[in-house]
Amino acid sequence: MRGVLKVYGDTTRTVWVADSFQGLPPPDPECYPADKGDRLWTLVPLAIPLDEVKANFEKYNLLDDQVRFLVGWFRDTLPHIEAGRFALLRLDGDLYESTIDALKHLYPKLSIGGYVIIDDYGAVSACKAAVEDFRSEHNITDKLEPIDWTGVFWQRSCRGDENFSRHE
Ligand SMILES: C[S@@+](CC[C@H](N)C(=O)[O-])C[C@H]1O[C@@H](n2cnc3c(N)ncnc32)[C@H](O)[C@@H]1O
Repeated sequence: MRGVLKVYGDTTRTVWVADSFQGLPPPDPECYPADKGDRLWTLVPLAIPLDEVKANFEKYNLLDDQVRFLVGWFRDTLPHIEAGRFALLRLDGDLYESTIDALKHLYPKLSIGGYVIIDDYGAVSACKAAVEDFRSEHNITDKLEPIDWTGVFWQRSCRGDENFSRHE
């Protein structure tokens, strides 16, 4: 995404990279029953340290003040993110908890006309459940479009907004 902004010569937008940089959290089945038994938190290849991620941006000359890193568990960091409006949300947190936390705290900042991409909708049933619960709770009826066998996206329209602000 940072590379795309560079290619287009955009110097005004910021890419936020929110991650624990230590992998997924262990499931919390009491709060999120859909995550019960999930073992993704044990997978070392999903725990990429911040320095390694920064080094990868650096390799392509893309590490600058248009990239901001938000380090920590979504439940702790996302409620306090000091960002303006988003044009695009790209969610790839796998768990019900991670997906619902991201939607809950970031979707209200998504511009009308902005897009949400959910990587794991088809691959992880808990992720799909979080998306469906969120959309249904907020009366979001914007068409869910498939990307491939797992990814989906939708474009935020005005629909659902009124309901949203009542929840804010
Ligand atoms: C499947 S990996 C995807 C990483 C990256 N989007 C990619 O495609 O390479 C899931 C990422 O989400 C992060 N993650 C998942 N749930 C999280 C949470 N609740 N808080 C912080 N980070 C989380 C993990 O640390 C991991 O880096």
